[in-house]
Amino acid sequence: MKSGNGQSDFIIIKALKDGVNVIGLTRGSDTRFHHAEKLDEGEVMIAQFTEHTSAIKIRGQANIITSFGEVDSEGSK
Ligand code: TRP
Repeated sequence: MKSGNGQSDFIIIKALKDGVNVIGLTRGSDTRFHHAEKLDEGEVMIAQFTEHTSAIKIRGQANIITSFGEVDSEGSK
């Protein structure tokens, strides 16, 4: 959860199309959705992994930047 500087990891999500969903999944033995945020084209969300959030699912076309690198999610065709 923590990166080298002691801060919790952030990721940056930039929506490349309307209707991108950023979905937070719970930490612990029960993995379920706990929050869904909808982004429209050009909107940016900066999110952290926290004690409540162990995974983040992104649906729709977006550019995602993490400490591991940059990746684009693709929308359904
Ligand atoms: N209440 C959530 C938490 O503290 C908020 C949150 C943090 C979140 N990171 C997220 C929601 C990523 C969706 C996606 O964990």
